Amino acid sequence: MSAKLWGGRFETGPSAIFERFSGSLHFDRRLFDADIRGSQAYARALAHAGILTADEAEMLVSALAAVPREGLADATDEDVHTFVIRHLKQIAGPLADKMHTGRSRNEQVSLDTRLWLREEIDRTLRLLKALQTALLDLAAQAPEAVICGYTHLRRAQPVLWAHYLLAYFEMFDRDRERLLQARARVNLCPLGSGALAGSGFPIARERIARELGFDGITRNSMDVSADRDFALDFLSAASIAMLHLSRLAEDWILYSSEEFGWLELGDGVTSGSSLMPQKKNPDSMELIRGKSGRVFGDFTALFTTAKGLPMTYNRDLQEDKEPLFDAAYQLEGSLEMAAEVLRSTTLKPEAPARAAAESWTVATDLAEALSRAGVAFHEAHQLAGRLVLESVKTGKRPRDWTAESMAGFDPRFTPEMAALLDPAEGMKTRRAPGGTAPETVAAALAQARIRLESYPQ
Ligand code: ARG
Repeated sequence: MSAKLWGGRFETGPSAIFERFSGSLHFDRRLFDADIRGSQAYARALAHAGILTADEAEMLVSALAAVPREGLADATDEDVHTFVIRHLKQIAGPLADKMHTGRSRNEQVSLDTRLWLREEIDRTLRLLKALQTALLDLAAQAPEAVICGYTHLRRAQPVLWAHYLLAYFEMFDRDRERLLQARARVNLCPLGSGALAGSGFPIARERIARELGFDGITRNSMDVSADRDFALDFLSAASIAMLHLSRLAEDWILYSSEEFGWLELGDGVTSGSSLMPQKKNPDSMELIRGKSGRVFGDFTALFTTAKGLPMTYNRDLQEDKEPLFDAAYQLEGSLEMAAEVLRSTTLKPEAPARAAAESWTVATDLAEALSRAGVAFHEAHQLAGRLVLESVKTGKRPRDWTAESMAGFDPRFTPEMAALLDPAEGMKTRRAPGGTAPETVAAALAQARIRLESYPQ
């Protein structure tokens, strides 16, 4: 059994089974760096409060810097905070016994988790930016390429490939906003809150917050001890980002299949089969899709754990860390992987253009052109629908019609409308902001690039 921070009131130590069951060092050791930094700031705050001399504080600061991380993997301490204090005692002697004056692990764990999460969010933001860059680069490779847009996985209307990619750019841009909002709530310093009731020592909380790079301090000590919604904010933002990644992955898996044949994925992001020699499987994207479920599980796990806990701290809250760590690492890995897949992808523009041209994706353009020529939209819709029905019955594709045969079908079809049988033509009318007209998309691409470059990370 290793030394406890709370032994005085007990006649016997914890049972081996309880120790094994309740220990968290095997996962919260990831908070080691944060625990050292937070403790160094607290030692200085104790000197500022007159509890330590300036020299004593500096001795503790150096001793904390000397705590060896090597032992972390196989130590048996209850948690990372206990591990650090045990080593501090070995290095600094009895002086270390003053380190925890007025401090509780309940605030310490909140502090450490916030420091850790802040760094992970910053790393995630950088990876998100790299993915958004890859989307724009892919759009720039084929700015004029026409693809078939779908609803219900049925061919719907022609759109530009760049327009489709910008849709994902916007989704990931909102993920960025959500992560920044989560970061703002993470980045408040809880230290100086005590176990639940606040500190009985004159701890300069604002000073610690500044020293550790926080934007400010938390406002209520009971809230600090009880609350994990800063972690839930992140898990919810992470889940939505994984949802977007999963949908991108699903598209890529479909579009790179032989059935679609739109995309070619690089060899470096695909795997073969141990039996079927011809296979080139999109495992990278399948894993991203799979990991999204895992991250939603992480969110659900903490969400459910926090529900119904009486105020304030309960040990249940120790269960926050594994889902939080897991979600952060899975999101980072998935973002990095998705960017790599995009960088390896080549569009085969003929296939999606053919998909748009073979089917009646231009039917809406015809109906709208009739409507612009004065036919009431419902009537225009019916008329275009009848042209489609006739074509389906006689096996005609749009390009099998001419201006004459269309006028023969119904004189309200003018020669200009026949030009709309080419999928690239009708989209030129979709100039309202947010639409797929080529110049609208070119402006949106340029604007997206400027936005992206303005992001510090
Ligand atoms: N390992 C604990 C956790 O993660 C640290 C806080 C312990 N506090 C307590 N009152 N037992 O929540």
